[in-house]
Amino acid sequence: MQTQGSIGVFDSGYGGLTVLKEIVKQLPQYNYIYLGDNARAPYGNRSFETVHQYTQECVEWFFNQGCHLVVLACNTASAKALRTIQQNYLPAHHPNKRVLGVIRPTTEVIGNFTESNHIGILATTGTVQSNSYPIEIHKFYPNVQVHQQACPMWVPLIENNEHHKKGADFFVKEYINELDKQNPSIDTILLACTHYPLLLDKIKEHTPIGTKIITQGEIVASSLKDYLQRHHEIESLCSKGSDVDFYTTDSTEDFDKHAAFFYGEAIHSKLAKV
Ligand code: DGL
Repeated sequence: MQTQGSIGVFDSGYGGLTVLKEIVKQLPQYNYIYLGDNARAPYGNRSFETVHQYTQECVEWFFNQGCHLVVLACNTASAKALRTIQQNYLPAHHPNKRVLGVIRPTTEVIGNFTESNHIGILATTGTVQSNSYPIEIHKFYPNVQVHQQACPMWVPLIENNEHHKKGADFFVKEYINELDKQNPSIDTILLACTHYPLLLDKIKEHTPIGTKIITQGEIVASSLKDYLQRHHEIESLCSKGSDVDFYTTDSTEDFDKHAAFFYGEAIHSKLAKV
């Protein structure tokens, strides 16, 4: 019999904590390990090869901690690394382990929010360039038009805790105006980066009244719940006990200070050698 392990939740930095928070809310019975690759964040502007290499190294780290299931709570990693990991790396090296992303669960439901059939995607440059959102959304909602806007300054603002200051308004307004210019009929905006919920108040201030702003935490958590119900062979390998362990590849002191904003409670992280 295989030993049970925690569910792994991964992000390049802090953003995945906004997803973990919702997962723990909906599935409090399991144990979790969170890893932020803060030493190499942000991933948003990095090449496919680099994001793939970093993500795969982190997935391997989770497997070494005994995890059988890892959620990439990062759109950039989901867009640039997930497919290769699922199609090549897992079958060759870990056929019984699973890695899930955040793009598929989001694209399955996002079309239900729009009435105008115009959806705006705000994401990192990497996620936008991958074109994953338009491709995946069209599979489920062929009539929906997808408009994308890269927001390269948002993750650095958030990672440096500058996002709630007045200066952040300039970049929030700028990218939202660019998206609006692409098509003023957009009635639903997806925050397709797990960092962006921290800018939610400012984003709401600068979007036209009535626009629906969708964040991914709850969507990804419900999808994981559904997945575990459908996949008993994986669920039975997920240990229960309600423990959440936090790891970072960079300074634990910095991580603990910042992470509390994302997670909403005090965190005591450990150093991960990936
Ligand atoms: N949180 C990651 C995402 O959802 C991006 C952050 C980064 O650029 O590293 O895309």
